[in-house]
Amino acid sequence: MQISSDSFKKTGLLHEQSLIDGEWRESATGHRISVSNPATGSVIGSVPDMSFEETNQAIAAADKAQKGWAKRTAAERAALLEAWFDLTMSKQQELGALMTAEQGKPLQEAMGEIAYAASFIKWFGEEARRVSGRTVPSPWPDRRIVTLKEPVGVCAIITPWNFPAAMITRKIAPALAAGCAVVIKPSELTPFTALALADLAEQAGIPAGVINVVTGMPTDIGAALTQSETVRKLSFTGSTRVGALLMAQSAPTIKKLSLELGGNAPFIVFDDADLDAAVEGCIASKFRNGGQTCVCSNRILVQAGVYESFAEKLAAKVNAMRVGAGDVEGTEIGPMINAEAVAKIDGHVQDALAQGAQIVGDRPAIPKGDTYVAPVVLKDATAQMRLASEETFGPVAALFRFQTEQEAVALANDTPFGLAAYFYTRDHARAWRVGEGLEAGLVGLNVGIMACDVAPFGGVKQSGLGREGGTEGIEDFLETKAFHMGGLS
Ligand code: SIN
Repeated sequence: MQISSDSFKKTGLLHEQSLIDGEWRESATGHRISVSNPATGSVIGSVPDMSFEETNQAIAAADKAQKGWAKRTAAERAALLEAWFDLTMSKQQELGALMTAEQGKPLQEAMGEIAYAASFIKWFGEEARRVSGRTVPSPWPDRRIVTLKEPVGVCAIITPWNFPAAMITRKIAPALAAGCAVVIKPSELTPFTALALADLAEQAGIPAGVINVVTGMPTDIGAALTQSETVRKLSFTGSTRVGALLMAQSAPTIKKLSLELGGNAPFIVFDDADLDAAVEGCIASKFRNGGQTCVCSNRILVQAGVYESFAEKLAAKVNAMRVGAGDVEGTEIGPMINAEAVAKIDGHVQDALAQGAQIVGDRPAIPKGDTYVAPVVLKDATAQMRLASEETFGPVAALFRFQTEQEAVALANDTPFGLAAYFYTRDHARAWRVGEGLEAGLVGLNVGIMACDVAPFGGVKQSGLGREGGTEGIEDFLETKAFHMGGLS
């Protein structure tokens, strides 16, 4: 059933203030930032542009709340996370509609993201009760040594616009489960989903000040979060350029860091692959969220023997995709986030065409407006083209040709990034060789989607530090204390 894109307006979930210490707050300056629907350009609402000082107030609120939150038992924290999960799922349609309005992704996909986001709340609520230290064999006869797992404290959470719900919960659910409190700075392009989720968390009983949401432009808020000595950890998802900047800004206060940064994922199709399955996997990995994910395949490497047939099969599906507003039934590719994103994507396509790439078949029709891009399959891509070394972040499937397995792995690894890599083969020995040879934090064999709550997610090389999700995800929000107890002779 399709629901209207503005159904969220009646739900009370559209908040146009920041949330600090349980209070909805305006900025003292009165400056506001408008949030637009990428499908239409119309303004949905606005949020305050909070200052350096107001961000520090949120940090102080988190610091105060964290002490009491950490003293709750793990079972109490787990029960509150479970209640938050239930409330989030009970509002799946309304939250999905809100996300479609501010981010643009098709409504079914947005609702899928709400379920994905909620799965982190559930998973980490369960993990809260499994945090434990260990007993260390003591080298002294009169001493015992144990390790204690303790929350790191106040955490700064900076999230992107492409997954307005899941990137929030993948970070704050483990933080809360561990006993931390958070100050979130959501993307200024998509703040409403974050504010709605924080509201639901408080309705579920999570105490005021444990989750604070500071809206606004990045410079002052980022400076306050990184300069603060109270903030002990920063978790960021976004570009490698901004990640490096935040890392430098966090250096003087030696913060723990989790950085989920850019990617340039290879998707390799070997001659022995199940081609239909590879096409399905390629569509899933390349066109999810209109190609706007860090794990989207960016370079599709196809072995010479199946190159032409794979190109044709893929283009047949891609050229039949329906492009439109996210709240129109049947839309598969929504608008891009803004006109600048479209300019970059078009730039990649033009550059590739100028250097000899060819469009396979006819691209689908697109609605009027400056945020739509017709998905495209490009043949004869080469390493010199911009799309080989830069993340396109759009619905462009560029096919590179290779001859040997060794060449494919070398091409795949020829990037400073290492977030995700995919490959399709039916050869068991090759599966192990290539799986071990690819330099990436996530490797998919015969799969196009790897996002889930139970497995670790994160990159190597310039794709980042730390892991989110899985049992590893909560570890990143814990400190290990070695407790030596002497005088026991
Ligand atoms: C991302 O694009 O950063 C996240 C994608 C995912 O969770 O699969």
